[in-house]
Amino acid sequence: MLSYQHAYHAGNFADVHKHWLLVLLLEALSRKDKPWCYLDTHAGRGIYSLDSAMAMKTAEWREGVARLLETSGSAPESVQSYLRIVQSYLRIVQSNLRTVTEDVSYAREIHMYPGSPEFARRLMRQNDREVLCELHPQEIEHLKKHFHKYDNVHLHFRDGFEGVFAMVPPPEKRGLVLIDPSYELKQDYQRIPAYLEKLHKRWAGATVAIWYPVLTDERHQTLLKGVRESALDNVLRSEIRRKSEIRKKEANKGMVGSGMLILNPPWKVDLAITSGWSYLVNSLQLDDQQSVAVDWLKPEKST
Ligand SMILES: C[S@@+](CC[C@H](N)C(=O)[O-])C[C@H]1O[C@@H](n2cnc3c(N)ncnc32)[C@H](O)[C@@H]1O
Repeated sequence: MLSYQHAYHAGNFADVHKHWLLVLLLEALSRKDKPWCYLDTHAGRGIYSLDSAMAMKTAEWREGVARLLETSGSAPESVQSYLRIVQSYLRIVQSNLRTVTEDVSYAREIHMYPGSPEFARRLMRQNDREVLCELHPQEIEHLKKHFHKYDNVHLHFRDGFEGVFAMVPPPEKRGLVLIDPSYELKQDYQRIPAYLEKLHKRWAGATVAIWYPVLTDERHQTLLKGVRESALDNVLRSEIRRKSEIRKKEANKGMVGSGMLILNPPWKVDLAITSGWSYLVNSLQLDDQQSVAVDWLKPEKST
């Protein structure tokens, strides 16, 4: 029984971190003409209404994407594509955005926030492909509604953890797998390192991005330790943590930050992340001492 619904959290600080990195990774793959395949093991509903009862209840987007939009005038090059995509779902004019963060009634005008499948769709070129797995019956219906008209988007109503093995390596041979579970099951933290090793054996050339929550009880350390002790090489980490005074106000109290591991990162993506970092840290009012732009959790194997 799945109870997590991302609609409560769409556009929050963790989504900004995850989706900004996703955009950088797909843009890096697009530097070569050869087509790529994007696999999303936990797709969610694809696009979120910020004036839904669920989004209005938590209004987490106010401390996430709304903050970034407020400061978009000073955004560096590496954040521009992310912002351009997000801004295309706005109905509101830029000058009103300051008010947006102060008054939830303005959610009607901020309107929609794209999920990972929609970011990927917006970055796809003619021969690129997107494959989405989702297990929640309600979310898959939303996905069908949004994506049925696109021939290069394929939907699967199935467990993304096991489903992905039926789909890799894809004919394109190059691409990205995004693993973004809801971590409702405690064993997800334990099982992901072995799962990554298995995936890497099946499709060694894939870039794999794994999102994880940074938690007050440090449960996510099990995942990091597992990857450190695994046979994998070439794993980047990017992690943000919120300032403690902001954390205290948060509805979602257990989660104090957002992390992403990137296996086989595309060339120079670490530089792109670093170049946008101080803007992200300042806009989202992050703890700059505890946040890590990028470091190597497992360095590249020297040849
Ligand atoms: C964190 S949300 C995904 C958000 C989405 N990736 C985004 O960034 O917009 C996790 C999603 O995984 C779905 N889910 C949970 N377990 C799953 C499984 N085993 N296979 C596929 N989807 C699953 C949930 O229903 C939920 O919609």
